Amino acid sequence: MKVNRICCIGAGYVGGPTMAVIALKCPHIEVTVVDTNSNRINSWNGPLEDLPVYEPGLKEVVGESRGKNLFFSNDINLAIERADMIFMAVNTPTKKEGEGAGMAADLKYIEACAKTIAKVAKSDKIVVEKSTLPVRTAEKIKDILGKYGHDEVQFEILSNPEFLAEGTAIQDLFKSDRVLIGGDETDSGQKAVQALVDIYAKWIPIEKILTTNVWSSELAKLASNAMLAQRISSINSLSALCEKTGANIDELSKAIGMDHRIGPKFLKASVGFGGSCFQKDILNMVYLCKYYGLEEVAEYWHQVIKINDYQKNRFAQKIIDDLGGDLRGKKIAILGWAFKANTNDSRESPAIYVTKKLVDSGANVKIFDPLVSLSIIMRDIEDFGININACSICNNIEECINAVDLVAILTETLAYKDLGKDLSIYDGRGINKEAKYTIGK
Ligand code: NAD
Ligand code: UGA
Repeated sequence: MKVNRICCIGAGYVGGPTMAVIALKCPHIEVTVVDTNSNRINSWNGPLEDLPVYEPGLKEVVGESRGKNLFFSNDINLAIERADMIFMAVNTPTKKEGEGAGMAADLKYIEACAKTIAKVAKSDKIVVEKSTLPVRTAEKIKDILGKYGHDEVQFEILSNPEFLAEGTAIQDLFKSDRVLIGGDETDSGQKAVQALVDIYAKWIPIEKILTTNVWSSELAKLASNAMLAQRISSINSLSALCEKTGANIDELSKAIGMDHRIGPKFLKASVGFGGSCFQKDILNMVYLCKYYGLEEVAEYWHQVIKINDYQKNRFAQKIIDDLGGDLRGKKIAILGWAFKANTNDSRESPAIYVTKKLVDSGANVKIFDPLVSLSIIMRDIEDFGININACSICNNIEECINAVDLVAILTETLAYKDLGKDLSIYDGRGINKEAKYTIGK
């Protein structure tokens, strides 16, 4: 089965970069990325300096293929109709209402995609789950495609979860540790798997392309994120013990990580993990465990989230306690709004939680992040019910740290490394040597 045209539904942090890399590596394939958000599509078509996603190396990759074999379009139906293979890279946030609210993944965007594909497709399609989904979602998608699709059209559903991390997305896509493709064990299922293997094999060594059944692929994605987050919660829980005992968390991490069976990555103590995925994916897995009656397993994974909440809270409480419990009249600089360095993404950023707690305790805050736009910071302040009158957003570090009582470092952006000795610095990211308080030390 030869793929000539790809459509990707969802032009976000995953859809944009992954499709740009496929287009670059497969110049013979026409790749069209579509989205219901026309502003986003316009930005993808606009100046390379202002793409909607900030990722080192992304603008070069997009610049190479855009207008040749990479297109961003608002015409969703046309792109679906023309494609042989359709990726679904839409958001799958935690459900806000209804059954499973606060835990289960909200599949309304995925279901809407499946419905559109079913209604529009007049020729056979391979439909690829790129979004992170609960195990057995392919079954639901199959039902929708069957119910709304044209009788003569055949669909094959593949699971191909994405493992890129923000801030290093392009490198992760160029040199993936593995590419996972789950498909049906039928003849046509295996042909569809092979069609996707052939695409990735253009730049990924074949031994790193792992093919499995659909359910293993769906669940492996949730489990991978859960294992990564679990390491962070494990080290963060130990950071509290370090503070009580005089042990040093960095020395502990180093000693633990030198065991080759454990390894050094993801053992950096912090103010907690953020990002749009770890929390939602673990909650989703907890929900699935409960659904299948596995209460102990659910509780085990839920603890990873509880420790993360504990850590965010612990950091903010330390500041509040050190300032005598009442922050009225105090000015605090918040350095870093993104959930990690090298991204403009602030979804689930610990900075938001810490800011809310400090403002709720009476503080005024000054916020600076070199990558996150004023409009996004304002949106977060509003969405999280933070008192806007207590917040000001700065254009540079100097302005932010000027005339404050205390500086809180909440993203590991290297520019916050050397701020000067005369400041009272609380470092949630362990990057500033002069910090008065650093988690775990
Ligand atoms: P995102 O919010 O940045 O992008 C999703 C896009 O889908 C949005 O632009 C939205 O407008 C669009 N969309 C939603 N419904 C649509 C529809 N019916 N038709 C057309 N467009 C629609 O999300 P993201 O960060 O790219 O994440 C997408 C998926 O990938 C999620 O399941 C996430 O868990 C997973 N994932 C994300 C990352 C990451 O680093 N962000 C990494 C791996 C996996
Ligand atoms: C994570 C995974 O690393 C990706 O493999 C996955 O594809 C993605 O989630 C997803 O499914 O969305 P991402 O959230 O972009 O990627 O970034 P990470 O590098 O994993 O960092 C997540 C959070 O953990 C950040 O807030 C970071 O500061 C924090 N972190 C990370 C620590 O506190 N300590 C560490 O040692 C590592």
